[in-house]
Amino acid sequence: MEIIRTVAELKAKLDTARKSGSVGLVPTMGALHAGHLSLIERARRENDFVVVSVFVNPTQFNNPTDLATYPRTEEADCELMKSAGVDVAFIPSVEEIYPQKDTRVFDLGPVAEVMEGAMRPGHFNGVAQIVSKLFDFTRPTRAYFGEKDFQQIAVIRRMVEIEGFDLEIVDCPIKREADGLAMSSRNVRLSAEQRAIAPAIHRTLEGSLSWARDHSVEQTKRYVIDELNSLPHLQVEYYEIVDALSMQPITDWAESESPVGCATVFCGEVRLIDNIKYPAR
Ligand code: PAJ
Repeated sequence: MEIIRTVAELKAKLDTARKSGSVGLVPTMGALHAGHLSLIERARRENDFVVVSVFVNPTQFNNPTDLATYPRTEEADCELMKSAGVDVAFIPSVEEIYPQKDTRVFDLGPVAEVMEGAMRPGHFNGVAQIVSKLFDFTRPTRAYFGEKDFQQIAVIRRMVEIEGFDLEIVDCPIKREADGLAMSSRNVRLSAEQRAIAPAIHRTLEGSLSWARDHSVEQTKRYVIDELNSLPHLQVEYYEIVDALSMQPITDWAESESPVGCATVFCGEVRLIDNIKYPAR
């Protein structure tokens, strides 16, 4: 595995790689875990050449403490990428990616206005800035994203449409701990007690599947919110049931062919996200 830290080297390397086959890109912010690994493994299976980027992107953090405390584990990340058969790890500095301030504002539209978009102003614009740069530098055949960040995928698809990138966005299922907690770089920040309670998020979302069969959208949302808020350490920031394509909240199950429930829950100070797909009616 080659570690590349400059854009010029990355572009040169990729220009050669692209000539002899497909290129798979997996964008990450490092602190890699089995969730990231599942994306990398899939990219490895489906492409001739695999690039993983590791970059804690400052422009998508609207909370300076979150940026400052974001885990950074470059050595362990490189070991993991190496053993997964990654060809190039792209690990640039902030100055390399943003030699000057990125002032681009993307017209992401309604998909970026709700949920994470409403709670974290500027977050998705920052995601669009970095992912568009990565797509531009690597020109991949396919790029891999996890459904844990369900809304992020919708936003990236919109960005690809606006920018006219010719590539395939591949959605990958959520990888979970044995007890159901969605894997996340933030999980290491949970205390033992919080870690023990956090799997209730997935359990409750799963429980809501049978509840949803004979309850309205509104009642199902209420069920999830009340269940989670009744537990120690947990505080729901939002639970929305939206259409998987438009990301717009639905009020009736019949409104969407693919309803998905998206949760953001504080477990102590740690902001956790998870989601679940409801069957079409
Ligand atoms: P990061 O949080 O590091 O996640 C990188 C990719 O791994 C994302 O596509 C995310 O959805 C996926 N992922 C994380 N946990 C997962 C899990 N438990 N199961 C499956 N996939 C999982 O998302 C970002 O970084 C950034 O916003 C990025 C796209 C890299 C732009 O900076």
